[in-house]
Amino acid sequence: MSEQGQPLEVSLAVDLCGIKLDNPILAASGPFGYGHEYRELTGFKDLGGIIVKGVSLEPWEGNPPPRVAETASGMLNAVGLQNPGLKSFLEDHLPSLRGAGPRLLVNLVGCTVEEYAGVAAGLEGAEGIDGLELNISCPNVKAGGIAFGTDPQATGRVVSAVRQETKLPLLVKLSPNVTDIGAIARAAEEAGADGISLINTISGMIIDTAQKKPLLGNAFGGLSGPAIMPVALKMVWQVAEAVKIPVLGMGGIVSAGDTLQFIMAGARAVALGTGLFYEPDLPSQLKAGLLEYMDKEGLRTLSEIEGVARGPKKF
Ligand SMILES: Cc1cc2nc3c(=O)[nH]c(=O)nc-3n(C[C@H](O)[C@H](O)[C@H](O)COP(=O)(O)O)c2cc1C
Repeated sequence: MSEQGQPLEVSLAVDLCGIKLDNPILAASGPFGYGHEYRELTGFKDLGGIIVKGVSLEPWEGNPPPRVAETASGMLNAVGLQNPGLKSFLEDHLPSLRGAGPRLLVNLVGCTVEEYAGVAAGLEGAEGIDGLELNISCPNVKAGGIAFGTDPQATGRVVSAVRQETKLPLLVKLSPNVTDIGAIARAAEEAGADGISLINTISGMIIDTAQKKPLLGNAFGGLSGPAIMPVALKMVWQVAEAVKIPVLGMGGIVSAGDTLQFIMAGARAVALGTGLFYEPDLPSQLKAGLLEYMDKEGLRTLSEIEGVARGPKKF
């Protein structure tokens, strides 16, 4: 109750580096594509934001099949960032996503600094985009992507180049396949990133023993789903310690309890990837679970518990 005896207003709204989200639950880039099928299924119900599949300057064909396989508590994918390219995204996909409800973030990819900058320039001014997520972390492409996300200097170069082309809020998506994730996050922050998102998938493989060869056409793929959550959580914690800008956490989230763990580690918001494949209604379940927790704990906003598990003590 307020001093005037009014019930205090509870709100799930968060500000993710200037992107005002009704709630902190987003759809992660990739599993969701450009959202068309998922939208038919759920109408984007209870999502604070959507991050569409990586967009490159020209169309990319992706990797040879098979591209996905199930693993213990997760999945392995080697889609290879197949996408129709910038022009098709702007003409064939963006118009139907405009004003769809949730905030819209576009994930962008490239093989060179110039390509990344070119995609950002091409998206600048396009109506309906609320933010960019720069993917420097895909483990399934031969050139570009992860090459930028494993070296702080290369991270700085690509983030600076994109920063010069856009005024939109810019999140940089990091790879877990590195030794010192804090150093990469700091390089992105110093080069002008407004937020950090992590983690992308963890590099892995499966061997088909009957065929005596790798199961995926690309041999290696990226592991996602509940199996990777403890790794993701630790890295979100480390990045939240390393930078001052907001963190978007992801990796294996399938419940409100998982979401709370990410927020307590220091995430401002979370994104759902693999979880949406087997439970399209997950955003509504998470939202209800968060509200129930806030009610039980007497919280009005989630900012009251952002990073709380880190406490004053340095671990
Ligand atoms: C099939 C598939 C495709 C993906 N495509 C992209 C992509 O285009 N760009 C990107 O930044 N991340 C991509 N990701 C990574 C996810 O956005 C997310 O970071 C990762 O899967 C961890 O979250 P999860 O365990 O909830 O799936 C993809 C993941 C999957 C499973």
